[in-house]
Amino acid sequence: MRVSFDGPPRAESPAARVLEIVRLGAPVLRRRAQEVEEVDDGVRELVDRMFLTMYTGEGQGLAAPQVDVSRRVAVVDVPPQGKGGAFAMINPRVTAASGEVARGVEGCLSIPGVWGTVERPVEVVVEALDARGEPFRLEADGELARCVQHEIDHLAGILYIDHLSPLARRMLLDRYRKQAKAR
Ligand code: NI
Repeated sequence: MRVSFDGPPRAESPAARVLEIVRLGAPVLRRRAQEVEEVDDGVRELVDRMFLTMYTGEGQGLAAPQVDVSRRVAVVDVPPQGKGGAFAMINPRVTAASGEVARGVEGCLSIPGVWGTVERPVEVVVEALDARGEPFRLEADGELARCVQHEIDHLAGILYIDHLSPLARRMLLDRYRKQAKAR
């Protein structure tokens, strides 16, 4: 901790609050994240920093395991379609999903530079706590539904590539490894 003799410590700059995103291969991405017992200031601090990290990475969603925190916390900001916008989900659960599915392109800040086409339910209902610890219910469809499912998967140690066919997954991982080598 920094000691200051002339007043309180300076506030950290936003850049200093950006968290490191772990990449494919990090064991934390495969662990089942722990339920949050109490939405306290520590959780809110995590949420704030996750938003900052997500925006810095130009993502639409980020789950706590991606910043090496194995807790059931995720943030989402999908351009609004009448509902949505930026919000945090703490201890989220998908409580209903449509039988209808759709294919759509997904990427992940933990697997940068590649994208894959994933089939998911078109509509879902999610129940979660917000950053104040208040329960809320979200009915989502389209891109928002896709994003919340992707993030909730992360909390169970599931990555979008797990939903691909073995061939599609192998091709994606080949592309990813080639890019990683080129970087
Ligand atoms: Ni992801």
